[in-house]
Amino acid sequence: MTTTTETTTPVLDAGGVTMRFGGLTAVRDVDLKVNAGEIVGLIGPNGAGKTTFFNCLTGLYVPTEGTVRYKGTVLPPKPHLVTQAGIARTFQNIRLFANMTVLENVLVGRHTRTKEGLWSALLRGPGFKKAEAASHTRAMELLEFIGLQDKADHLARNLPYGDQRKLEIARALASDPGLLLLDEPTAGMNPQETRVTEELIFAIRDMGIAVLVIEHDMRFIFNLCDRVACLVQGEKLVEGTPDVVQSDERVVAAYLGTPFEADTPGKADAPAPAGTPEAPEPDKAERTTSTEGEGQ
Ligand SMILES: Nc1ncnc2c1ncn2[C@@H]1O[C@H](COP(=O)(O)OP(=O)(O)OP(=O)(O)O)[C@@H](O)[C@H]1O
Ligand SMILES: [Mg+2]
Repeated sequence: MTTTTETTTPVLDAGGVTMRFGGLTAVRDVDLKVNAGEIVGLIGPNGAGKTTFFNCLTGLYVPTEGTVRYKGTVLPPKPHLVTQAGIARTFQNIRLFANMTVLENVLVGRHTRTKEGLWSALLRGPGFKKAEAASHTRAMELLEFIGLQDKADHLARNLPYGDQRKLEIARALASDPGLLLLDEPTAGMNPQETRVTEELIFAIRDMGIAVLVIEHDMRFIFNLCDRVACLVQGEKLVEGTPDVVQSDERVVAAYLGTPFEADTPGKADAPAPAGTPEAPEPDKAERTTSTEGEGQ
């Protein structure tokens, strides 16, 4: 569903984004827009450049060429400035503070929206205490929204894998974004958890947050998205509605392997796209890391 007209400024407008690593062009001249009220999917085989493109959007990588605009303003390629502008993300390889509680992880995500500075924090004056209470209230609201309120005091590393993915979403939402980028939010989830995540993303969109989501689960993508773009070897091969993309012969040849078949009652699960495992590799599934490190 799209609620915008053609004259409305897109929430995200990436133009001519290219990312080269030495001789390898991981992303080549990719244009992508996300409008207010939209959920847009980004699909493509392993190594197609999807995560690299996210890293270019969020300032983790400085694109070799191209510009990224958020609500009409060109973004500086610095992660904290991108978050401050209104783009939040989750990571393909979960990045939580493993030894902090669920609540503390969400509070970390809140800090870009807290005006209180270092001195205020050290002196713990009334301004700081008020801001702290407001952040706590907001973080608990978000935990309730994603269904983790009963686990607020648990250490992040003790959460089941699916809950860790949800916690990453809550932490991203804590920065009050206008655009949420999700990198494989259902990787490693069972079908029930995947359905819950789908509902969660619809609810996030209904809160007024546009969503750009990378996934290999085609049923999830084609159910969820208003528009889908397919990257292959760093280039945007096709972009369109789920109907258009799933029946495009080039997408079938380069990625899906066989034409996608939507759910029909009593039908077994559709095959996974060619060359893409249903679940992530074990190291991806088990890892819980801090926010430091490489851009995956
Ligand atoms: N920092 C880097 N230095 C060098 N090459 C990189 C770097 N980051 C990514 N690449 C390369 O860029 C290409 C695209 O990788 P990317 O992780 O973006 O793919 P992807 O579409 O997200 O794949 P997947 O579905 O497996 O997550 C790969 O060939 C990868 O090895
Ligand atoms: Mg990736």
